[in-house]
Amino acid sequence: MTLDVSVHDAITTVRANGSRPRPTWHHAPVVDHFPLTDRYRYLRLEAPSIARSAAAGQFVMLTAAREDEGGPVLPRPMAIYRRDAEAGVIDIIYGVVGAGTRRLATFLPGERMLVVGPLGQGFQIEPRTKRMLLIGRGIGTCSLTTLAQDHAETGVEIIAVSSGRDDDSVIGGALYREYRAGAVYEVTDAAGSSSVDHLYARLTVDLDGDPPQQIMICGSHRLTELARALGERWQAGVQVSLEAHMACGLGYCHGCATGTRSGPEESPLICKDGPVFWLDRSSERS
Ligand SMILES: Cc1cc2nc3c(=O)[nH]c(=O)nc-3n(C[C@H](O)[C@H](O)[C@H](O)COP(=O)(O)OP(=O)(O)OC[C@H]3O[C@@H](n4cnc5c(N)ncnc54)[C@H](O)[C@@H]3O)c2cc1C
Ligand code: FES
Repeated sequence: MTLDVSVHDAITTVRANGSRPRPTWHHAPVVDHFPLTDRYRYLRLEAPSIARSAAAGQFVMLTAAREDEGGPVLPRPMAIYRRDAEAGVIDIIYGVVGAGTRRLATFLPGERMLVVGPLGQGFQIEPRTKRMLLIGRGIGTCSLTTLAQDHAETGVEIIAVSSGRDDDSVIGGALYREYRAGAVYEVTDAAGSSSVDHLYARLTVDLDGDPPQQIMICGSHRLTELARALGERWQAGVQVSLEAHMACGLGYCHGCATGTRSGPEESPLICKDGPVFWLDRSSERS
């Protein structure tokens, strides 16, 4: 997602509830790896400590380099789509967009991949929350799905919007239903159902009577603006998961700074202070 200045200036760091899990690294065996759709691939890695400790919204860094092979050696950030603490596995869905993900796509079950995580600040759930709206666009939906996993049985109802260019780009519908989301809206540009105006009208008709207290969003500037408008209407807290190119994922290289910011302080780092940030309403939270 490309950020513009208004989003940069409207974000506030999410404060972790308690201490964050310490990142660990694994030479993780690839358990499964296959094309999910024409656009995306599904990767399952054995990484027990990450599967046990990752909070919703945290991410991992994957290094898709093999010994004695040229090619990208810097790791690539990926959201954890689903984790299974008992089985000790994490699932990732990714799109092949450049050299790193092209190399990632060549890994076979049984090979090992270097994975570091969990990293970053995840989503923060407020005690008052009884209903939560998740809005994801394309691959950005993968940053939200573990919220549905976490709240399948907590009494917090999940309402999910999964948006994409076409049916192949819409992710997460089956997972949301498996984890008993109260409603799932799968919308596409192709069907004309994904525009901000259309979604605003549909969601306000359906949810005005019992609006969510929190809105979580990832993958689209347009939909971030929608989340902001809905948050204002419902007095709901909005958190956004942001993306950036990352070299280390640990807060050292400063390559993922969110950009210019007025004032003397350094702008937040997406890998360390994010990737999840509060949007607006910063005065209430400082
Ligand atoms: C916290 C986080 C979670 C992510 N989760 C996922 C995920 O679950 N699944 C997934 O497919 N991708 C995810 N990404 C994006 C993923 O990291 C990039 O697609 C990947 O690094 C691209 O590497 P590459 O070498 O294949 O492409 P590159 O050669 O580095 O880039 C190819 C193209 O992709 C663009 N690009 C690369 N990285 C990003 C980025 N971070 N944001 C926007 N555009 C980018 C480049 O500008 C270029 O146009 C996530 C990124 C972050 C920061
Ligand atoms: S990626 Fe290195 S500081 Fe964020």
